[in-house]
Amino acid sequence: MIKQYLLAPGPTPIPDEVQRAMAATMIHHRTPEFSKIFSEARESLKRLFATQNDVLVLASSGTGAMEAAVANLFSPGEKVLVVNGGKFGERWVKISQAFGLEPVQLKVEWGKAVNVDLVEKHLKVYPEIRGILVQASETSTTVLHPVREIAQLTRDGPLLVVDGITAVGVLPVPLDAWGIDVLVTGSQKALMLPPGLGFIALSDRAWKQTEAAKLPRFYFDLRLERRSQRKATTAFTPAVSLVFGLHAALKMMEKEGLERVYARHDRMARATRAAAIALGLKLLAPENPSPAATGIMLPEGIDGDKLLDTLREQMGITFAEGQDDLQGKIVRIAHVGYMGAFDVVVAIGGLEMALRKFGYPVKLGQGVAAAQEILMEALD
Ligand SMILES: Cc1ncc(COP(=O)(O)O)c(C=O)c1O
Repeated sequence: MIKQYLLAPGPTPIPDEVQRAMAATMIHHRTPEFSKIFSEARESLKRLFATQNDVLVLASSGTGAMEAAVANLFSPGEKVLVVNGGKFGERWVKISQAFGLEPVQLKVEWGKAVNVDLVEKHLKVYPEIRGILVQASETSTTVLHPVREIAQLTRDGPLLVVDGITAVGVLPVPLDAWGIDVLVTGSQKALMLPPGLGFIALSDRAWKQTEAAKLPRFYFDLRLERRSQRKATTAFTPAVSLVFGLHAALKMMEKEGLERVYARHDRMARATRAAAIALGLKLLAPENPSPAATGIMLPEGIDGDKLLDTLREQMGITFAEGQDDLQGKIVRIAHVGYMGAFDVVVAIGGLEMALRKFGYPVKLGQGVAAAQEILMEALD
């Protein structure tokens, strides 16, 4: 037997309380019992998204919520500005193209955050741009984009549509206070649930835009969904068991306190970065790192795919690989959701051992010690 440690940025580990809630006997969804749980969860989601507006729960993975954003806001042929600095920026491009929009791509080097001045310049060059599509945390490159600053540019301009799939529940992304127009997330990251729920919240002006938008929509018609969800039900059959789990997970997060949840993520991320540096390794995103996952460049000559296989098969540790050009060159260590100090210790301990096995000169414990120095803060 090899004990398993799931340390990839989604799906993430699931707490026992949440597992137990999801194992409850199935109930009919058009019942007061379901409605009570559903409305309580929706109230908690409003606090998580820091909005007075509705947060809608969809039965889909996160991409479904991204698609819902595009389909409900725009009309065929409209231009949107897409910040494309990784796999998920690319996804915005593909969704926009699939729906007949004209995405203007602001390409960003992988590992870098978008430059806000360049966003501003693009808005000047293309005044017809109707929306900006961006990731708060670009999971593929472990970068945090400056959403708050971008929001300063869009107050009276195009709609700001933010993929918060590895940001919501990891760091504050307050929709109302920052002036974000659309914020989406998914269940299998900070919300400590299996994949299968998407979440989306809209600002007042984005809701107004859903009436004018001409793109086709049916399953993801947010107007229909909002009408139903305001009556504590859903337009279609909800993912009942996942909603039970959601209710339990949000209760756990609120019991810990959202500020502490954010501080825990920040601490785990800083500890992981400090460990990598102590081991003489380079970070993929040294300047604007995401607190959800840390991308670490592997030393020349080490085959990342083989390293990850060894970690998984011999140590039971699952990290995420690099994608596209970064395949085999990096590892991504997640610290998102139901994770704590000792997940970081396991991650770094395993990484040190794997690197040693692959011939990189590691002083065992050096990275772990650097991480522990930071993790000690939780004991103050
Ligand atoms: C930033 C980001 N956007 C979008 C997605 C896609 O979400 P899903 O796989 O739930 O459809 C992910 C998943 O990892 C993500 O991290």
